[in-house]
Parts: sequence; C-alpha cells; structure tokens
Amino acid sequence: MVVVHTSIFPKRRMRRARSRNIQPLLREISLTKNDLIAPLFVDEMITAQKPIDAMPGQFRYPINGIAGVAADLWKKGIRAVLLFGIPKVKDPEATSAYDPEGVVQQAVRRVKAEVPGMVVITDVCACEYTDHGHCGIVGKTRNGMDLLNDVSLLLMDKIAISHAKAGADIVAPSCMLDGMVASLRTALDDAGFDEVLIMSYSTKFSSALYGPFREAAGSGYSFGDRSTYQITPGNSREAILESQMDADEGADILMVKPAGLYLDVLSEVATIGLPVAAYQVSGEYSMIKAAAQNGWLKEKETILESLTCIKRAGADLIITYFAGEVAGWLDEA
Ligand code: PBG
Ligand code: ZN
Repeated sequence: MVVVHTSIFPKRRMRRARSRNIQPLLREISLTKNDLIAPLFVDEMITAQKPIDAMPGQFRYPINGIAGVAADLWKKGIRAVLLFGIPKVKDPEATSAYDPEGVVQQAVRRVKAEVPGMVVITDVCACEYTDHGHCGIVGKTRNGMDLLNDVSLLLMDKIAISHAKAGADIVAPSCMLDGMVASLRTALDDAGFDEVLIMSYSTKFSSALYGPFREAAGSGYSFGDRSTYQITPGNSREAILESQMDADEGADILMVKPAGLYLDVLSEVATIGLPVAAYQVSGEYSMIKAAAQNGWLKEKETILESLTCIKRAGADLIITYFAGEVAGWLDEA
C-alpha cells in the first residue's frame, strides 16, 4: 500500500473561502449607510426637478423640492448630504454665493427644518457663481488671467460664514487655494461658528472625470483651465503633501477626489490620521451608468465593487451619486 504523507499538501489551503456560510463572518470590511454622503444639486431657476443628461438618474432640484429629497434619503438611511447651488445671477465677484437669500443658504435652511438630523455639508466654491466659471476671483497675473489666491480667500470666508449662518454642519471648501483651511477656521471661529467642521477638498486632482459635473452644476469655465490650482494626476507626493498641509491648518476631514483612479493616494492620505472622505465624482458615476445602460456591465455589482474598494483603500466616508440607490440594496443584504 502506498502511503501519501499529508505534508506534501500545503497546510494553509484557503478552505474558508469555500464555505458560503463562513464568508460573511470573515469579511474584512462592509459598506454601511453611515459611510455614504449624497451630493445634491439645487437650482434657483427651476420649479420642477430637471434630469441631468450626462448623469442618468441624477437631477437638479428646485429650492422648494430639496427638503423632500433629503427626507427621502433620510428614510433610506442616508445621514449626510452635500449641497451644490445653481444661482440665478452670476458675476465676476460671485456675490450670489454669500447672499443670505442665495440658493444654497435657502436650501440648507429648508433641509435643516424638515430633517433636523441630516448632516448638511455645503460646497464652498465660487465656480457656480462666477460668470467666468473659475473657482474664485480672477485677475491679471504674470502668466495672464488666472485665479488670485489671497483675494479669493476672503471670498471663501464670506461664503462659508453665510452657509454656517444658514445652518450648515460642515463646510467643504473645494477650490484648493493656498492657506484656505487656516483662513476659514479663523473666520468661522471669529464669527462664532467654532462648532462648524471643515471638510477640505485637500487632495483634488485636475481631472477629466469632472466633465459631467459641469453640466450638472453649470460650472464650465470660459478661459484657461484649473491646472494652476488642482493637482496634476501623476503627482502623488504633492497630493499627499497637500492633504498634510490642510491637516496642519486645522481641517477636520480630508478628501481625495476623484476616488477610484486615486486609491493609492487615498490609502496614503488615510495614514495622516484624520477622517478621510473619497469623492466618487460625476465621471465615475457616468462611466458605470453608461456601460450598464448598454448592457456591458452589471450595474449593481459594479457599483458595490467600486464603493467597497474605495472603502478598502482607506475612506471613512464616500461622497457618491449612488448613495440613495445603494442604501436600498444594503437593506436587502
Ligand atoms: C467645484 C467642484 C467640482 C466638483 C465638486 N466641486 C468641479 C471642479 O472642481 O471642477 C466635481 C464633482 C464631480 O465631478 O462630481 N469646485
Ligand atoms: Zn470650483
């Protein structure tokens, strides 16, 4: 009789993976509704919701409809929204961005009145409010017309304070100005809003994936590009340093944007120690939707995989246009 000694077999075979019952117990991470933040677009000029063509399933909402949308998300278990405004009036100084009766300010008040527990985050930037479409005040620089850093800081302070006055829990400055977090922290504290958190778009790449957002938020620019204030996709050391600097300036939450193509950067930024949000941007949403609509990808599987991998890479929070949809699936699971 031939005796086969068992040691010729590998001792650590992955038996566990073969048991469907055991798999859930051994799962390293799971997506939860508390991880998700839903971005919402509020349009001052419309009276009924308007589909965003480049983002199937997403809408611009009228001011008087936004509280209802937030209430629906709340019922599904979503606990945070990120508001973007599309104003009636645009001018070079973005004055409607800090108007107490501006579109975001009204929307914040309505959401807080209807769903007090909802964490309301506001995008603090000027690109939806300037007629030239840049993220702050522009002027002549030695390289031609471009964003003026320090003048724009004062504008961001005004915008953030007006959002805080309206009831925002967290302000999210998204224009990557130098010194912005320190400037905002001081301005908010001095205005009596020391409890308002700052979620900085600390590592924001100059990405083609923001394309559909420009239709969604009506924020395309009329000259130049944003490469002078956003990071070039190949630079990871710079990307991490940007988040570190915002942490040093007093940010409460850091952000990496876009998410899926930048997981290496995300996992590094997570080591800084602050909570990190990852923004799965409009282009990431639209790519999945388009492929799913063509029957080329399975929609639900692809969405859940994309979000799971973003969490695995180190995100504590994920800003995603899929938030409402995914919340329903998590109930089924
Ligand atoms: C505004 C802002 C942008 C996005 C979020 N805030 C556009 C940009 O920086 O060009 C993009 C979000 C998305 O694409 O989903 N500064
Ligand atoms: Zn902007």
